[in-house]
Amino acid sequence: MASENPLVAVTCTAPVNIAVIKYWGKRDEELILPINSSLSVTLHQDQLKTTTTAVISKDFTEDQIWLNGRKDDIGQPRIQACLRQIRCLARKQRSGQEEDPLPLSLSYKVHIASVNNFPTAAGLASSASGYACLAYALAQVYGVKSDLSEVARRGSGSACRSLYGGFVEWQMGEQADGKDSVARQVAPESHWPELRVLILVVSAEKKMTGSTVGMQTSVETSPLLRFRAEAVVPARMAEMIRYIRERNFEGFGQLTMKDSNQFHATCLDTFPPISYLSDTSRHIIHLVHRFNAHHGQTKVAYTFDAGPNAVIFTLDDTVAEFVAAVKHSFPPESNSDRFLKGLPVRPAPLSDELKASLGMDPTPGGIKYIIATQVGPGPQILDQPHAHLLGPDGLPKLVA
Ligand code: DP6
Repeated sequence: MASENPLVAVTCTAPVNIAVIKYWGKRDEELILPINSSLSVTLHQDQLKTTTTAVISKDFTEDQIWLNGRKDDIGQPRIQACLRQIRCLARKQRSGQEEDPLPLSLSYKVHIASVNNFPTAAGLASSASGYACLAYALAQVYGVKSDLSEVARRGSGSACRSLYGGFVEWQMGEQADGKDSVARQVAPESHWPELRVLILVVSAEKKMTGSTVGMQTSVETSPLLRFRAEAVVPARMAEMIRYIRERNFEGFGQLTMKDSNQFHATCLDTFPPISYLSDTSRHIIHLVHRFNAHHGQTKVAYTFDAGPNAVIFTLDDTVAEFVAAVKHSFPPESNSDRFLKGLPVRPAPLSDELKASLGMDPTPGGIKYIIATQVGPGPQILDQPHAHLLGPDGLPKLVA
């Protein structure tokens, strides 16, 4: 770093999260304030993560962004909202300080590059990890120390929950300015070491209705959504936090499934109706209930976001048998050696009793692949200079 060319570069990673009490609906579109609190599990970055480099320099003439290697539009309203918010926090922090360690940095333009280690086309939500990583990286380069919920939230509501590892709640808050609408860790990633997460990738198609537009229509038209936000979610939040603290899988799993089902019911109650689940999604729901009925207890639980992919929660001692049941019900069509990604899963036999209990005709190729993962930590800073996605000139490094 030449002193005549002061340049600050930081690279961070941030995780994906999956909600077990769903966020659906805003009370303020501009500030992205939700109509109910929500709760999520942070997934491990070994399997799914966004990496973002932010560089500021007095020599840059404009803000610029590259997403997955391609120049993108920095003018997008949500990216702009994040940038405004971080600069506003930096200014506030600075006005409270005697001496400023980075005197001119606030006026410096920023170059941003961001990549996901998972295919966007897989239909897995990338906005949460993406905006959490953006908020975290910007905070590092501009020296912002305060809570970043507000910055991440302005990018995508669910992104504020990706600022922490483990189990995270997003408290809806009451204030009109959203200052109390913040994410908070309920339990760290080490809290429930046996918990496992399987992502069943059903379809790589782009979703029909995006979350932002979908929830807007739901807020306008679904009486069930209003009832859910006011009369159901507050008690469920308290109940879910208790199950997590007690590591009670029976309670956690059942409530996770009920909340996913209610979210999809509000989608169907939206007018015109929205349906995110596919036939394969419904087959997975059926499979999970049959599997649990066979065992006489809740051994696995599903949840679905705004798309057909299933996210399954289970404990480590059940993973192998459940994966065998999935393979039996959805025989992999091709590349069966690449059907399982992520954490290793040992092959397990399926008893004839369980096969009979599942009672389904196999659907070959219904599930494209499975990503096995677990609960993971929050955003990280990568110290090694080679991790930077942008070179010393502030432009994307050429990837061999
Ligand atoms: C179904 O956070 O993507 O995944 O705030 O408009 O960007 P915006 O929506 P987004 O919605 C996520 C919806 C969900 C449930 C959840 O993650 O809580």
